[in-house]
Amino acid sequence: MSFLQEIARRRTFGIISHPDAGKTTLTEKLLLFGGAIQKAGAVKSNKIKKAATSDFMEIERQRGISVATSVLAFIYKNKKINILDTPGHKDFAEDTYRTLTAVDSVIVVIDVAKGVEAQTQKLVEVCRMRNIPIIVFINKLDREGKDTFDLLDDLEKKLGLITVPLSFPIGMGYNFQGIYNLWNENIRLFESEQKTTISQQINIIENIDDPALETAIGSSAKEILAEELELIREVYPSFNRAAYLNGEQHPVFFGSALNNFGVQELLDCFVDIAPPPLAKDSEERNIAPDEKDFSGFVFKIHANMDPKHRDRLAFVKIVSGTFARNVPYLHVRHNKKFKFSSPNAFFADKKEIVNISYPGDIVGLHDTGNFKIGDTLTSGEKIQFKGIPSFSPEHFKYINNADPMKAKQLNKGIDQLMDEGVAQLFTLELNGRKVVGTVGALQFDVIQYRLEHEYGASCTYENLNVHKACWVEVKKDGEIDFAEFKQTKSKFLAKDKQRQLVYLADSAFSLEITQSKYPGVIFHATSEF
Ligand code: G4P
Repeated sequence: MSFLQEIARRRTFGIISHPDAGKTTLTEKLLLFGGAIQKAGAVKSNKIKKAATSDFMEIERQRGISVATSVLAFIYKNKKINILDTPGHKDFAEDTYRTLTAVDSVIVVIDVAKGVEAQTQKLVEVCRMRNIPIIVFINKLDREGKDTFDLLDDLEKKLGLITVPLSFPIGMGYNFQGIYNLWNENIRLFESEQKTTISQQINIIENIDDPALETAIGSSAKEILAEELELIREVYPSFNRAAYLNGEQHPVFFGSALNNFGVQELLDCFVDIAPPPLAKDSEERNIAPDEKDFSGFVFKIHANMDPKHRDRLAFVKIVSGTFARNVPYLHVRHNKKFKFSSPNAFFADKKEIVNISYPGDIVGLHDTGNFKIGDTLTSGEKIQFKGIPSFSPEHFKYINNADPMKAKQLNKGIDQLMDEGVAQLFTLELNGRKVVGTVGALQFDVIQYRLEHEYGASCTYENLNVHKACWVEVKKDGEIDFAEFKQTKSKFLAKDKQRQLVYLADSAFSLEITQSKYPGVIFHATSEF
């Protein structure tokens, strides 16, 4: 297969949802339909179970499992599918944001009974900021849920999506009878047993006027379906692939992942319409996937579970060219060449050493501390990929050294954990004190535990009242405002790890007042503006 064909057949995407909507189940069923596994349950979920939300040891254990499921690859209809796993747990939302920088499209899973939930809203917002093509899968149709049209409305109002139903349910919950597939114009009738394997028996009726349909679902359900389909054709735009790829249209599918229902329709349509690897902006220029020279970036770092070996796995998304084993590549930030003797490629149920990888693929590189999230690797060109911003953490604490003999170990540990993206570090301008910011409260325990077990250092925390971290930009003529702001708010100013200036606002109110008082200064919600 030629280089261009290899690129054209890759589909790298992520599945996002609010916890419990069915992301893990859908992922598994896609693998099942893709032939990557024979039986559901074969791939261990990296889902952090509800019961474990306050148990960080359990999370550490599950972190081990999640290395294996970070990327799930399989071939379906001659397409190479790479599913990038995203943690559902909200304390790890930042990991998900970063993974979204490496996907070319996403599937959003929505629970039919719950509709659009908070976590979905945040994640879709990030996708929309990046114009990532989105397909929606409304799950759990075997249960009673919201009215179908209300759900579509919800998607438009709360997520700003322009929905195009490509399938449509016949009934719901107790009355769920099947799915009308608007993509292929046929009907699949529902069979309700929960299956872990794929059954070959599928009930497809090719046409709404087929008398077999009325026999199967009854005349009133058939009538309702006919009316609903008419409404859909009148109200919703017809599918346009270019609009979908530009993030201007959002196909919607219905089904029940648990019951293997509607999953095949989703997968078949997905491989047809989802984008192959896209070009990516670097600070210097736009890089197209079909460029001959290799380039890629680190979007995730996974620490080894064995504290005796402090090596880590850096996940690199290949943007252009090919990545080959044992070839020296430039680590742009270090301005130094590295070669990798055992790059890992990922499959549904295993990882193995790979000789060559193509744009869209993810390789896992063993690292002893050279990489941090956002690093660029190239064949030699000095470029830096854009687009791994930091968002304001939700929780902030001072971190103190509890063992003066181990200051060096502590600093190294903090440094490396921050490079991995476990949390963010801010250093106060006034006194050099270190503040750790995390998305979830749980990470403080994880950091303390890992510092002790991996670095032999111990730390204590001290509470600090911060509402939000805002990245500071000075407007063109804002120097006077900026000087005054710096003086009055010196106590609240810090530098992040990239040495960007951050204002740690102590309340929403003071942020608002500060903003109106110093119009020459802009306060950004992310580190990239
Ligand atoms: P998540 O990764 O998005 O957090 O969700 P996950 O797939 O784990 O699904 C959450 C729960 O919803 C699971 O039940 C799962 O079995 C159920 N589920 C997923 N898809 C469907 C569906 O189509 N219909 C119905 N009725 N349920 C569905 P659980 O009891 O929390 O977990 P488990 O004990 O079944 O694993």
